[in-house]
Amino acid sequence: MKVLGIESSCDETGIALIDSEKGLLAHAIHTQIDMHRAYGGVVPELASRDHIRRVIVLADQVLAEAGVKKTEIDAVAVTEGPGLAGALLVGTSVAHALGYALGIPVIGVHHLEGHLLSARLADPKPEFPFIALLVSGGHTQFMKVSAFGQYELLGETLDDAAGEAFDKTAQLLGECYPGGPAVSRLADEGTPGAIELPRPMLHSKNLDMSFSGLKTAVLTQVHNAPDPKDETFRRNLARGFVDAVVDVLVTKATKAMKTTGINRLVVAGGVSANKQLRNGLIAACKKRRARAYFPPMHLCTDNGAMIAVAGMTRLMNMTDEQREQAARRLGFAAKPRWTLTQAANPDL
Ligand code: KG4
Ligand code: ZN
Repeated sequence: MKVLGIESSCDETGIALIDSEKGLLAHAIHTQIDMHRAYGGVVPELASRDHIRRVIVLADQVLAEAGVKKTEIDAVAVTEGPGLAGALLVGTSVAHALGYALGIPVIGVHHLEGHLLSARLADPKPEFPFIALLVSGGHTQFMKVSAFGQYELLGETLDDAAGEAFDKTAQLLGECYPGGPAVSRLADEGTPGAIELPRPMLHSKNLDMSFSGLKTAVLTQVHNAPDPKDETFRRNLARGFVDAVVDVLVTKATKAMKTTGINRLVVAGGVSANKQLRNGLIAACKKRRARAYFPPMHLCTDNGAMIAVAGMTRLMNMTDEQREQAARRLGFAAKPRWTLTQAANPDL
């Protein structure tokens, strides 16, 4: 079976085609980062307009690259939420128009479910059950994933997401949006321990986290620095920040594995591309004889492949009758605010 995946929830237009036997056939991503950079963050209306310009062009490109005709697609998977309303509407309306024209099911995917399952595009892929650490620009959560569709929230950030903290730190260090990769590069050249920053909630009994205090600590350091533009200071501050984030996430990930007895850790979302975090989690897993799984590097940030994988998994779990029903359904929705629990339990 072949599933076309469409992602347009934020500032990346992602399209991918996967085959149930052969895996990922082709994929393409257009990132709007350059367009939003001048504003220091994503401008929703500009994002929607750009998705409109890209989505069909990219879908044609992916199909051509895979050598597959539209009529050979068995289903379309699309990010239904959460995300920017206008941006989601672009993807969902194109997906449903395509589904209606071809008489095939359209599967609405929760964006985080896509990230969660993206590590299954790696080799070897994690088997269920696993602990998932989702670290993106909008979310930082630990989930227990017992099986496809069975997700239990174990803990999450009470304020800023880790990616958001990276982006704000980058801004304070005079780096461009999105800041994760820039902060990571600076940190590489900083001296560990030169600037110590707080590790909020490191020793709290639960798996909740908080990153807003860390951001304030970075701000205070910048304000108090004799020369905040000094290169050594910037590198050491980035290092202090990254070490604090990694310490919190590694400590909590270890606690999540200990309390659940599950020794597989899947890390996904944009921040899972971070080298220091990857190294920290791999080392922590090794100590416990556990194993860490990451999506392929180019599929850590938003992309169509993760949506196609989630859609394919759902399609495989549907009966023929459910597939026919899905192919006949005319109405559709974009769900800017939608929890993973709601997505996994539509009857709740
Ligand atoms: O998953 P994602 O692409 O979009 C959301 O769903 O939010 O994550 C984007 C976030 C941004 O905050 C970006 O700064 C962060 O991922 N990010 C990184 C790295 N690459 C992207 N953070 C740290 N290190 C990186 N290498
Ligand atoms: Zn994402």
